[in-house]
Amino acid sequence: MIVLGIESTCDETGASIVEDGQRILSNVVASSADLHERYGGVFPELACRRHIDVILPVIDEAMAKAGVTPDQIDLIAVAKGPGLIGALLIGMNAAKGLSIAWKKPFIGVNHVEGHLYASMMGRDPIPLPALGVVLSGGHTLLVKINDIGSYEPIATTVDDALGEAFDKVAALLGLPYPGGPHVERIAKAGNPTAHLFTAGKVKRSPLDFSLSGLKTAVLYAVRGQVLSENQKCDVAASFQETALKDIARKAYLASQTFPCQAIYFGGGVCNNLRLREIFHEKFPEMPLFWPASNLSLDNAAMIAGLGAKKFLARGQMGDLLDLEVQTRIPFA
Ligand code: KG4
Ligand code: ZN
Repeated sequence: MIVLGIESTCDETGASIVEDGQRILSNVVASSADLHERYGGVFPELACRRHIDVILPVIDEAMAKAGVTPDQIDLIAVAKGPGLIGALLIGMNAAKGLSIAWKKPFIGVNHVEGHLYASMMGRDPIPLPALGVVLSGGHTLLVKINDIGSYEPIATTVDDALGEAFDKVAALLGLPYPGGPHVERIAKAGNPTAHLFTAGKVKRSPLDFSLSGLKTAVLYAVRGQVLSENQKCDVAASFQETALKDIARKAYLASQTFPCQAIYFGGGVCNNLRLREIFHEKFPEMPLFWPASNLSLDNAAMIAGLGAKKFLARGQMGDLLDLEVQTRIPFA
């Protein structure tokens, strides 16, 4: 089965051709991060306009790289949400338009579930039940995975997502957007105990995350001062260590609530090597499955792969053309 995947939930326009839900024949991503840099975060309207400009060229490129023609496509899978409304509409309408033109079924899938599927893709068997950890610019989620498509949410953030917190701290330190990789880079030269930051606690919900207090603590540490490069590195290292250890500690507690067989990670922050180290220290015995680097940030291969799984699980039933995008989707 050859699937065309389409991703447009935020500031990346992606198209990918995936065979049998796991073999990636092409995976093309065009990011509009350059447009958002001066705003320090995604400017939704600019992201939408870029999606309109590039979605068809990106799809053409993915088809050409994979060497497939429209008649060889069996299914079109698209991220139906969560995400920015205008951005989602462009991917969804491209998928519907191609579905009509090519007379092929299409299916909408959950982008966050796609991030989790990214670390399962191509793996057989998939140890379950497992803990899913999604850490991205828009999502911070711990979830029990009973099966692909069967989840029990355990914890989420009550304010900022982890990637968003990295991006905001980067902006406070004068680093470019998206800031996560830059914070990681300068943190390597910093002292993680230079600042005694504490991770946020959520009343009556001990596994949930709160990152806005930590971000404000960073703001107070840098406000009104001219920091040397070394001091910036210390702030970055102290923030990173506090935030990532909080994630690992709560993931550990979550993993103790059921017979957890493995952990599957998804989302852009999973590229952070210090995060990986901290988890490997915290879980020396547990199989930890990280997404490949081309599958951790937003991409359409995870959407195509998950779309194929869902389509087969539903007895090869696609969605109807009245399927709506959803800016928020409860993860369950
Ligand atoms: O998964 P993704 O493309 O976005 C959403 O679906 O939201 O992840 C992007 C986020 C950004 O916030 C970026 O700063 C962060 O992932 N990120 C990192 C690293 N690489 C990307 N954060 C920390 N360390 C990294 N190495
Ligand atoms: Zn994402």
